Amino acid sequence: MKDIAVIGVGYVGLVTAACFSDLGNRVTALDINEERIERLKQGIMPIYEPGLEELVERNVQAERLFFTTSYEEALKDAEFVFIAVGTPSGVDGEADLRYVAAAARSIAETMDHELIIINKSTVPVGTGDWVAEIVRRYQPERIPFSVVSCPEFLREGSAISDFMHPHRTVLGSLDKDAAEKVAQIHLPLRAPIVITDLRTAEMIKYASNAFLATKISFINEIANICEALGADVKEVAVGMGYDQRIGPFFLDAGLGYGGSCFPKDVLALAHMAAEKGKHPQLLHAVMEINADRRKMAVEKVRELVGDLMGKTIGLLGLAFKPNTDDMREAPSIDIANDLIAAGARVRAYDPVAMENAASILPQVEMKPSAYAVAEGADALVVVTEWNEFKSLDLERVRGLMSSPNLLDGRNIYDPETVRSLGFNYLALGRGYDGNGVFPAGVEKLIASAD
Ligand code: NAD
Ligand code: UDX
Repeated sequence: MKDIAVIGVGYVGLVTAACFSDLGNRVTALDINEERIERLKQGIMPIYEPGLEELVERNVQAERLFFTTSYEEALKDAEFVFIAVGTPSGVDGEADLRYVAAAARSIAETMDHELIIINKSTVPVGTGDWVAEIVRRYQPERIPFSVVSCPEFLREGSAISDFMHPHRTVLGSLDKDAAEKVAQIHLPLRAPIVITDLRTAEMIKYASNAFLATKISFINEIANICEALGADVKEVAVGMGYDQRIGPFFLDAGLGYGGSCFPKDVLALAHMAAEKGKHPQLLHAVMEINADRRKMAVEKVRELVGDLMGKTIGLLGLAFKPNTDDMREAPSIDIANDLIAAGARVRAYDPVAMENAASILPQVEMKPSAYAVAEGADALVVVTEWNEFKSLDLERVRGLMSSPNLLDGRNIYDPETVRSLGFNYLALGRGYDGNGVFPAGVEKLIASAD
């Protein structure tokens, strides 16, 4: 049993606190947001994450998990303090470190015994050294401490399982003893532990996210080419994925990546490179391809319904991915805004993200179900691949719509089945429609062979 403090109770901090307490540690989670802490004390979660409420409740009841807004209380007996505050994009795409700086300063001003400060937030290379400087500057008296980088790799929607079963734990520090101590508290997770220096650990996080984003933009580029040449990107991905050097994951073509990490982290990495005089060509291409997916979705809707002026377009899903209420950088935002700018009326349904979406998309009419979205719509767009959309009664949906136009932005339906139900159906990167209809270029080739 170790005494741990976690600073920040967002997606990462709250999951980290709940999971470490479930592993038998005594954890105090702190946030400066008083409302969040007050609600957590009443058992109300600030975010939607499957399994989190039960996990928090179990550990609060076992008196292993505590919530506070007081740094004194959080640090009183702590041996380890995790910083898990936000690092959003700044004005030029750089990571905004103001919350990390504030947390480091509060730790420095409060600590009265030796501490290991562990940075879990995704921070630019060099931030660990800078945090150490801040702590040194604001300590009222010299108390020893170490800084360790321990980047987090969990995904929203499967955060608890990802935390409890990581592929690896990465630890970076100039203080090997401190890194070993942090390794000890991760041993129950039974994952390989990579111990390296601070800057390398920080870089591993950015490189990992940038690589995954690259994989997504790569398959989206292939999807475009598939569409033009009459191949099916879903089957291409399956065929590629069996190659162990490629792997089957992160090859789902669609509307591209959103969320609180990939967009800001690829941008921040490009910014870090540019600041040092490097030209990160690949990262720029990754971002450009991703931005085009959203524009392309609107073009495809136009292809289905013609002029968008006065048309009613329904969005199925708003969150940036299923099983989360997170709207940060969700493709739905750009798609809805572009449709509205072109004169369309936009309505939407999402199982959990509508409350968060309402303030971001005030012109979008929120509906209580997918069927309510379909009623009288000129086109539907699958934006987020929630399971409940995969099992919709599509015949009922078609019957409710003004015109049966369907854009499957996440390739969740079987084109042949959907078309046989009478939909004008467009998917992304599925050039051959399964009904013997090839794109124009392929028809020309067939004709020239005759
Ligand atoms: P979040 O915005 O959900 O939560 C951050 C929390 O920190 C908020 O509750 C905020 O009130 C609190 N906070 C801000 N300043 C504070 C301070 N000085 N003292 C105490 N609390 C403070 O953020 P998040 O999504 O959990 O991300 C946190 C970090 O983890 C970011 O660097 C992010 O890039 C990284 N990360 C996020 C994910 C993810 O899936 N969300 C995954 C891996 C890594
Ligand atoms: C990501 C990283 O996966 C995680 O390791 C890191 O800690 C935080 O950022 P997250 O953003 O929660 O996690 O979700 P993820 O499942 O990675 O999806 C990110 C975005 O990529 C979503 O918008 C998703 O729809 C999109 N995506 C993912 C695709 O478009 N295709 C895919 O094949 C996979």
